[in-house]
Amino acid sequence: MNIVVINGTPRKYGRTRIAAKHIAERMDAHLVDLSTMNLPMFNGEKDQGDLAEVQLLQKTAMEADAFVWLSPEYHSGMSGALKNALDFLGGDHFRHKPTLLFSVAGGGKGGINSLNQMRTIGRGLYANVIPNQLVLDPHCFIRDEDCLTEDATEKVQFVLDEFQSYLDRYVK
Ligand SMILES: Cc1cc2nc3c(=O)[nH]c(=O)nc-3n(C[C@H](O)[C@H](O)[C@H](O)COP(=O)(O)O)c2cc1C
Repeated sequence: MNIVVINGTPRKYGRTRIAAKHIAERMDAHLVDLSTMNLPMFNGEKDQGDLAEVQLLQKTAMEADAFVWLSPEYHSGMSGALKNALDFLGGDHFRHKPTLLFSVAGGGKGGINSLNQMRTIGRGLYANVIPNQLVLDPHCFIRDEDCLTEDATEKVQFVLDEFQSYLDRYVK
């Protein structure tokens, strides 16, 4: 099974990237890391399709059986980086594919906005976004060690196990 985890933070030292790497390892998944990819701003012009980064993103998404999207919450929304990457893709990349959402927020009861935005966009791309989702706040991370706390690891694992049950059912 080919699972693609999309790290939606534009920040190389962002917490979202730590969570994305953790999840990609746990699921033995392929990581698409938007903090290192240098995708251009989508402008709808044909020649962007010739760019190696764009072709790689589109090929990786087309070959995926399922997705995990992670976005930081910035100003009560999902990251522009993730939205921009998704604008290079379409229904053919996502239709019927189980998709799991995580948000990484600042700890002031944020995170739900980016989850809801991703869910709406997932619908627009015909992704099969599952009901389970999780917000990770700063206390979920051990910053010096670039990893999740034990408690957060358990919470993430619970959601990943739920996701696995959808994968077992919907991915041949
Ligand atoms: C520009 C900006 C806007 C932010 N706005 C919010 C917000 O509206 N709600 C929230 O919970 N956290 C907010 N935060 C905190 C981030 O969600 C938090 O720092 C999180 O770790 C971001 O993920 P990252 O570390 O991968 O960038 C904001 C951070 C930045 C840099």
